Amino acid sequence: MSDQPKLVPGLADIPVAESAISFIDGKRARLEYRGLAVETLARESTFEETSWLLLEGALPSQRELANFDSELRNHRRIKFKIVDLLKCLPEAGHPMGALQAGVAALGMFYPACDVSDARSNWDSVVRLIAKIPTIVAAFHRLRRGDEALPPRDDLGHAANFFWMLTEQEPSPAVARVLDACLILHAEHSMNASTFSARVTGSTLADPYTVVSSAIGTLTGPLHGGANEEVLDMLDEMGDTPPARWLENAIATKRKIMGFGHRVYKVKDPRATVLQELAEHVFAESGKPPKYELAVDLERAAAAQLGPKGIYPNVDFYSGIVYQSLGIPRDLFTPIFAISRVAGWLSHWLEQLENNRIYRPEQVYVGNHDMPYTPLEKRP
Ligand code: ACO
Repeated sequence: MSDQPKLVPGLADIPVAESAISFIDGKRARLEYRGLAVETLARESTFEETSWLLLEGALPSQRELANFDSELRNHRRIKFKIVDLLKCLPEAGHPMGALQAGVAALGMFYPACDVSDARSNWDSVVRLIAKIPTIVAAFHRLRRGDEALPPRDDLGHAANFFWMLTEQEPSPAVARVLDACLILHAEHSMNASTFSARVTGSTLADPYTVVSSAIGTLTGPLHGGANEEVLDMLDEMGDTPPARWLENAIATKRKIMGFGHRVYKVKDPRATVLQELAEHVFAESGKPPKYELAVDLERAAAAQLGPKGIYPNVDFYSGIVYQSLGIPRDLFTPIFAISRVAGWLSHWLEQLENNRIYRPEQVYVGNHDMPYTPLEKRP
């Protein structure tokens, strides 16, 4: 019909909210959280401080950070019934499914339906950020037949997660790189999972539902699932020279995982910082052969994909870093969620400040005025 709206596939370039949380300049490789460059935060800040910055709009004072940090530590534990729920899930199931189920279940233990109650909203924010790493680590240990480990109150957010997962205290370099990975993934403007969080939040659903909906959106291979697929792709390359493999992939119109971005038309600044931080870990553990292969692939791709504005995104190197820390592949996306929950919740709170339910239009391409044929007369 002529008066129908024009479809913009993927809502590309269509603003869906006003936001003061993060800013991306895709041509200048610039990403800011509340006006601060993400590179500076990755080098100088902690995930706890960055979360506060995203949620509250400015860096915390020493006292605010100490209080927030202690609130998070106090809420890391999960109820034994949540552990029991995780025990009942299939060991072979993807941990993102377990995380989504665990977070949805949290909402039944801590009802937070009145989203006009600022105190209750803040409590939910703290609980979600604090408990998500515990759920991820618990599911991983339980599926291997190990007991879930209680959190260590003497460790920071990233180091405690590593401890709960591996029963090993990370070295300072490992704790630092993991913390930086959490900072780098914490927020990225109107990406698919954040939009999902805002859409669910716009119905005034409770924050646990908001976050479980965002977790579901993050699972897809075009979004959070990409770093797992990067490693599968590097495995598949085997001994084939990267340039030849790439030529063949391009000829068969394959997407190169960990490359390309809707907004960045240059190398994702997060990939650059991550690579720099990874070098510190590799100085301890040695450079993994996959890393060398990835660097060669990036070099080959610069000539073949660069002219189209397709460069490595954050997920190109993050999986290699996690693998070098001994973290299994299917936990990469849950780690993304451990981090991105700070961004999702910041957007949820911002959405509530000036809420209107999302209800976009569609372009109808179906039939009209169809006759109803009784069942017995249909072929
Ligand atoms: N490899 C090869 N070609 C690509 C790639 C890629 N990774 N990404 C985009 N292109 C090409 C497309 O084939 C298309 O080419 P054409 O115009 O000749 O048909 C063109 O670039 C535009 O691609 P779209 O898929 O339309 O771009 P869009 O902005 O919709 O998608 C996305 C962005 C999903 C990130 C895409 O680049 C992609 O699939 N990348 C691989 C998956 C990935 O790494 N995802 C992680 C994203 S970052 C994150 O979520 C943290």
